[in-house]
Amino acid sequence: MKAEIYKKLFWIIKRPRYYLKFFHSLKHRLNKKIGTFWCLGQAIDTNSAIIKIIGKPNYKPSYQKFKEEIKLAKKKKKECPVEMGGGANLELIYQLAQGIKATKVIETGIGYGWSSLAFLLSLQERKGSLVSIDIANPPVDDKYIGSVLSRENTNKIDKSKYTGCIIPERLYKFWTLIRKPDRLGIDEALKILPKTDICHYDSDKTYEGRMFAYPKLWKSLRNKGIFISDDIGDNLAFKRFANRVGREPIIIRYRKGYIGVLIK
Ligand SMILES: C[S@@+](CC[C@H](N)C(=O)[O-])C[C@H]1O[C@@H](n2cnc3c(N)ncnc32)[C@H](O)[C@@H]1O
Repeated sequence: MKAEIYKKLFWIIKRPRYYLKFFHSLKHRLNKKIGTFWCLGQAIDTNSAIIKIIGKPNYKPSYQKFKEEIKLAKKKKKECPVEMGGGANLELIYQLAQGIKATKVIETGIGYGWSSLAFLLSLQERKGSLVSIDIANPPVDDKYIGSVLSRENTNKIDKSKYTGCIIPERLYKFWTLIRKPDRLGIDEALKILPKTDICHYDSDKTYEGRMFAYPKLWKSLRNKGIFISDDIGDNLAFKRFANRVGREPIIIRYRKGYIGVLIK
């Protein structure tokens, strides 16, 4: 193991043209380690987080209430020919949207549409609106995407026609889909919903991508509105943003990652 590391170091030392790349990769790994460690120290489970944010939920868990919808969504996902990343925390999203009776929601990152489904199942009860943003026809010009292209978009398959493929048609009337990268799509979404109850971020996971989007989404939130971001252990963006806006972060352990919540 040590010999391997020395061999790699020696290889780099002899090639100054790789110094910058090496430094960036080291910084990225270090930030991920710090980010994950920061989450680990304070993460709670989904139920505890729901109770902490809205109190004891008055609604049945979504997986009980919407058994049929979820079964159908799983079937549609199985039939989808492209891979579009992991789904968000359905129960957290559904209960928070119900708890604050949300009617205006913006989300970034649709993939198959799990987070969209959870929002729409809640919003339909109040005839609310969800505006969702997902990249158009990947790959797009990387000037729009943080510092690197998101992993999901580096190949040439046009996934955009499957974006949100698990959403049942009857929910379309509550849903606006913006097929653009965040750097263009967020401003467009804010024109449609300038004031929001909830914002959910699950798209460009780079530090730069987050630092571009977080402030814009945060600004749109009403007082006591809820800001949710996925995979916050990837880097230090969420930690720094929480500090900047002076809010105590609520961190939720979910599958292999961490979700961060801030209340405005
Ligand atoms: C993990 S998936 C989202 C999962 C979704 N929230 C769910 O619960 O099913 C990430 C999505 O973000 C989109 N994405 C990645 N980078 C993006 C960017 N810069 N702008 C817009 N969408 C982006 C990808 O196309 C992908 O569909």
